[in-house]
Amino acid sequence: MYEITRDRAFQLLKKLSEAIGPSGFEDSIREIVVDELRPYADSMWVDSLGNVIAVKKGSRGSGRLMLAGHMDEIGLIVSHIDQRGFLRFQPIGGVSERVLLGQRVIIKTREGRVVRGVIGSKPPHIMKPEELKQVPEIKDMYIDVGTSSREEVEKIGISIGSIAVFERDLSFIGSSDIVTGKALDDRVGLAATVEAFKAVDGNEVDVYAVATVQEEVGLKGARVAAYSITPDVALALDVTIASDVAGVPEQEWITQLGRGPAIKVVDGRAATGLIAHPTVRDKLVEIARQYNIPHQVEVAPGGTTDASIIALNKEGVPAATVSIPSRYIHSPVEIIHLSDLVNAAKLTALFSSKISSEWALSISKRVIK
Ligand code: CO
Ligand code: ZN
Repeated sequence: MYEITRDRAFQLLKKLSEAIGPSGFEDSIREIVVDELRPYADSMWVDSLGNVIAVKKGSRGSGRLMLAGHMDEIGLIVSHIDQRGFLRFQPIGGVSERVLLGQRVIIKTREGRVVRGVIGSKPPHIMKPEELKQVPEIKDMYIDVGTSSREEVEKIGISIGSIAVFERDLSFIGSSDIVTGKALDDRVGLAATVEAFKAVDGNEVDVYAVATVQEEVGLKGARVAAYSITPDVALALDVTIASDVAGVPEQEWITQLGRGPAIKVVDGRAATGLIAHPTVRDKLVEIARQYNIPHQVEVAPGGTTDASIIALNKEGVPAATVSIPSRYIHSPVEIIHLSDLVNAAKLTALFSSKISSEWALSISKRVIK
């Protein structure tokens, strides 16, 4: 039986977090995930959008559980190259101007070559005082790759449509349990999905682990994967807001770092994201209590996950989420606590292994007569 450990989880997270994979360009992440899941899957495929789907057959041959962790990260896409070799770009997903300035980025060319650049803008010394107070817009920023002409840029393989992400390694900060890096949204949820799938044992239901594409640009991969699988119950594994930081009052923390995975009640503005299926949510809490897995309950005021689109598949799917608390989401300095990753993976593995086919089928449809 596969054992989920902090060390294995960290190694996998490091590999996933440092790889380049903005929405629609998840190739590098997909390769890692395929290699990781292959030895543990009874069957496995990649669909036309690029979702990786791995199946572990259940002992009862009925009931399907879908686990979803998204592979994509937010990023940039080159939209224009000027005569002097400066690159203009558009965002992929929710990229904030506030975190772009002063960053190093890595650009990946169509041929797979990797080029380093920096995000530049007008120097502060020549700005007017009122300009200095404002965050420049994306249209006023550019990527500087150190070239001096468009021809030179093209020679190194960068073209319109080349993609870029923050350049950042995954590393420990002050504590031996806390790591920081880019794309922890959602490589941490993806790592938890992969580790949970490996550890699933004695399952009655068929367990489908799905590494989804294009979550950050509209939950697209999860939508088609759910259609293909027709799950009876589903869990998404993603980050959630941990705003337990200086200057934020306790009632706005949402979740706390290191207090265990969060089991969601609702998300999205005014609960317009997911309203977690109460029976699935209660089952997660029950299993967490039974196996002494630390956990917290969250009501998130914004953002959502793959679960909200899977819930709307065909005639509806009872769905919930297991979230990993993360500070500074969508920045190059996202922070998570490794124990939250390990516990999220353990909770998901136990849920997948312990639910009965009968339970899964009974919540997805209640026949009246
Ligand atoms: Co996100
Ligand atoms: Zn996410």
